[in-house]
Amino acid sequence: MTASPVQAPTAAIVLAAGIGSRMQSTLPKVMHAIAGRSMLGHVLGTLAGEKITPVVVVIGPDMDVVAKAAAPHQCVTQKDRLGTAHAVLQAEKALAAFAGDILIVYGDTPFISAETLRKMRAARAGTARPAVVVLGFSPNDPGAYGRLIVGANGLERIVEFKDASPAERTVGLCNSGIMLVDASVLWKLLADVRPNNAKGEYYLTDIVALARAAGLSSVVVEGGEEELMGINSRVELAEAEAIFQRAFRRKAMENGATLTAPETVYFSADTKIGREVEIGPFVVFGPGVVVDDNVTIKGFCHFEGAHLSAGSIVGPYARLRPGADIGKDAHVGNFVEIKNARLEEGAKVNHLSYVGDARVGVKANVGAGTITANYDGFTKSHTDIGAGAHIGSNTVLVAPVTVGDGAMTGAGAVVRTDVPKDALAINAGRQEIKEGFAATYRTLKQAAKEKAKK
Ligand code: UD1
Ligand code: MG
Repeated sequence: MTASPVQAPTAAIVLAAGIGSRMQSTLPKVMHAIAGRSMLGHVLGTLAGEKITPVVVVIGPDMDVVAKAAAPHQCVTQKDRLGTAHAVLQAEKALAAFAGDILIVYGDTPFISAETLRKMRAARAGTARPAVVVLGFSPNDPGAYGRLIVGANGLERIVEFKDASPAERTVGLCNSGIMLVDASVLWKLLADVRPNNAKGEYYLTDIVALARAAGLSSVVVEGGEEELMGINSRVELAEAEAIFQRAFRRKAMENGATLTAPETVYFSADTKIGREVEIGPFVVFGPGVVVDDNVTIKGFCHFEGAHLSAGSIVGPYARLRPGADIGKDAHVGNFVEIKNARLEEGAKVNHLSYVGDARVGVKANVGAGTITANYDGFTKSHTDIGAGAHIGSNTVLVAPVTVGDGAMTGAGAVVRTDVPKDALAINAGRQEIKEGFAATYRTLKQAAKEKAKK
């Protein structure tokens, strides 16, 4: 088979009408997430990466959340679940005018890889010009998968487990459900499918035998078991999560990140990790995190929607929430929470602080226990800390408020009004000294205690 460099335009139909009763969930199955991205999102992402368009998603009734997640792709509703062929037919109107190849994938088979899709497209473009390319696999346990019956002249038909003879059940080559079909014959083949089978359903798998009867051929391309795993329960969802994480950690290390204890680090599907990045144990990357080159992340951190610039050092025990933008060579230390705030180059927030809705200027230092009081119960307000400012320990910055460049605040200050450039703000109260007070206090207390004992 020679792969043609010219690939036919390819559209896709994503089957996602199943309710997924074994998930025991009110959320449609394909909306359950792996690494912070819905199963449907994983599939749509892979299709987009391969420039497969248009994409039509077949959903069930009352699946508005799926339609929303699928946007801007078109969704069509399959009212009655009469089988996989019937599901594909729901997309006929939307794709009737499409000329090229139509890829059929499942929304609950999230790991289908770009490489495998390319192999399938190459097979379609091969000299044999098969009308149908079926993605098969040989799982450890073939269980109840449909079996691919291959004869002397290639793939002859697909038989569902329930309909298979004992001999057919011994076949190890299984149907993943994913197919690539010549659009010019797909609708005609589907129209001829009849529900003459154990389940009384319209089987998509029947188009292989129908194609053969019409003088058209089908071929099998094989994929891997892990990429073709279908998710039917939350136990399988957790297995898929583990597979994803293992692969992502490996990729991060291969791309130049050091993970001291990889099995304790959790990424999101969209996490971006640069080179020469060090990640300590027990770090969680929620969605939307970008880590540039040469960043050090110490153990026990939790990030979401954050950007860490080159040379920054974060953690241990730091929490970066959405909009945290950690500048070049900035430091964020232990028990520090940062939300919607930019730390400019070389700024430091090293201990026990909350910095929200703020800017911390170049090389400013925020002392231990500093809090930006950004919320009055109604509105969120901004705190602006200038370059080189020095915020004393336990300062409360009552936003909206500005601390000018090079200004200082005294320890324990409650800063309610702006501090001019290079000024010092103090208001923690003047210190009084009462000589001998502590000693007298202890003596009196001790005497009272002795008396009470008697
Ligand atoms: C199907 C295949 C089987 C294959 C297996 C792989 C058929 C007849 N059988 O069986 O050969 O080994 O997948 O997992 O195709 N769906 C709809 N509407 C429907 C029915 C199904 O949208 O009316 C969707 C489901 O949500 C699911 C997919 O199609 O994503 C497959 O349906 P499912 O019922 O799981 O098919 P299987 O019996 O597993
Ligand atoms: Mg299934």
